Amino acid sequence: MNNLFCCPVTGSPLVKSGESYISEATKERFPILEGIPRFCPIENYSESFGFQWNIFEQTQLDIYSNSSLTEVRFYGSTGWSPDKLSGENILEVGSGAGRFTEAFLRTTKATLHSIDFSNAVEANRRNNLNYGSRLQLAQASIYQMPFADNTFDKVFCLGVLQHTPSFATSIKSLIQKAKVGGEIVVDFYPIKGWYTKIHSKYIFRPITKRMPKRLLLNLIRLNIRWMLIAFDLLCAIGCSLLTRFIPITDVRSLPPTLSRSQRREWAIMDTFDGLSPEYDSPQRVEDVKKMFTSNGCDISFAGVVNYSGGSSTVVRAIKRS
Ligand SMILES: C[S@@+](CC[C@H](N)C(=O)[O-])C[C@H]1O[C@@H](n2cnc3c(N)ncnc32)[C@H](O)[C@@H]1O
Repeated sequence: MNNLFCCPVTGSPLVKSGESYISEATKERFPILEGIPRFCPIENYSESFGFQWNIFEQTQLDIYSNSSLTEVRFYGSTGWSPDKLSGENILEVGSGAGRFTEAFLRTTKATLHSIDFSNAVEANRRNNLNYGSRLQLAQASIYQMPFADNTFDKVFCLGVLQHTPSFATSIKSLIQKAKVGGEIVVDFYPIKGWYTKIHSKYIFRPITKRMPKRLLLNLIRLNIRWMLIAFDLLCAIGCSLLTRFIPITDVRSLPPTLSRSQRREWAIMDTFDGLSPEYDSPQRVEDVKKMFTSNGCDISFAGVVNYSGGSSTVVRAIKRS
């Protein structure tokens, strides 16, 4: 086995038997479906993401959007340099369709272990099949990862934590899987002030997250044209503050290299991504720092990282004990 998988419940070794892994300790069977081991119930709260990423599987990948936004965001957020990653054990948590997986594998020679709770792992596999065994993919939850504690030199989790039921418990899980001296990097939706949740997304979400996913997607598709026109118009006349009352993603952050139809597709996807998830809990940077320091980490960076094409709110931490 050239992967680091173990039983997510007991940490004991796994034995491969046909199209399954079997836990040596508990004899529990984890199926391998479409070439991907599954360590969690197939149906779970992140179903909307599985739906989304299997429809928009290529939309945000650099190689399809003709931009380097994902690569620039990845290295800007992590502060890592691609040539120093080979030979290290690295874990990605919440990979979605694999935009960061792709940027990582394309720019390094390293192997990557990557998990997601939804069946977006299938989109990720299709997108990154050409990297062979350098990508070790599994469907699993951040709360029950199929790896022994203290395994990884580096762990990254980008665009995920606000969508988990407990931000603090999720951070604790990431720290557990890093080695002592290892680094954990997360980015997340920030609370910028009292006005953060005065936004059409948070007004509509109690309804939209309960809607059938296909219906919600069709409604967004039907309305995207006028929403884009209204958004662009408000920006053009200097009233960009009012765009928060249109239930559309902030399209100013999309790569400028996109064609008209790609911009439309990206806007539909990002709007669905905002309105459909079960959880959406933005955080204060100071609170996230505390979640790390109270679990034996030193903070090496906390704040906003600006890169060409956007910015992310990031915390980087080193596991001390
Ligand atoms: C907004 S998407 C981001 C995906 C990817 N990181 C990106 O930026 O394109 C959030 C992802 O987190 C995953 N996720 C949510 N809860 C999770 C959990 N408990 N364990 C692992 N992944 C989870 C979802 O399935 C989804 O693919």
